Amino acid sequence: MIDPGFFITFEGGEGAGKSTQIRFLAETLRAAGHEVVLTREPGGTPLAEAIRGLLLNAGDPPEAMTQALLFAAARFDHVSRVIRPAMRAGQIVLCDRFADSTRAYQGEAVAEDALEATILLGTSGLVPDLTLLLDLPPEAGLARARQRGTAGDAFERADLAFHARVRARFLALARREPDRIHVVDADRPAEAVAASIRALVVAHTAIDLAGAGA
Ligand code: TYD
Repeated sequence: MIDPGFFITFEGGEGAGKSTQIRFLAETLRAAGHEVVLTREPGGTPLAEAIRGLLLNAGDPPEAMTQALLFAAARFDHVSRVIRPAMRAGQIVLCDRFADSTRAYQGEAVAEDALEATILLGTSGLVPDLTLLLDLPPEAGLARARQRGTAGDAFERADLAFHARVRARFLALARREPDRIHVVDADRPAEAVAASIRALVVAHTAIDLAGAGA
């Protein structure tokens, strides 16, 4: 049976504005009368949030394959307990990062076939209906992320060259799956980025943004 809901993921490097944009889209969808679930990875369930703490606050970060397996475990819990039930109930799930983040970040150090095996298990085959890749140069993104005033998690502390390779891997994924992954220029004012996102949702899903209350 095909789930009646929709699953939209937001991807991109650090400081691309994903969390702001995901909130904007949630507001737009709710105003149009849709039920929306806003969630994030790693996280989204108590167990997955605990795994998030292990991964992001590790003083001595584990090997990339260990990271991939932990992301997969967190993701399986999240998909089975939150995302699939919401989709079955006809809700729209907006998720801040999903499996493409594993490809972009852990893809640095884990062979592709092994990584895809962890992803297949973690997602249990669930693929987003639409992925919005918020793209901007890593210099700009890291500057924004550091302005938040926190010390930064283990990934934010990685060097600029690493973040440039993460960006290149995200863009390569978008070229490989152009029907699903759409690149949004995030180096613009937030309202312009939000307008592009609304246009992509209208163009590439059957979601009606002009519904009740819009
Ligand atoms: P988060 O604070 O959510 O980052 P951001 O605000 O940039 O979205 O931290 C998530 C970090 O985890 C981020 O640096 C990317 C990394 N990550 C992976 O390496 N692999 C994954 O599969 C996921 C979901 C995240």
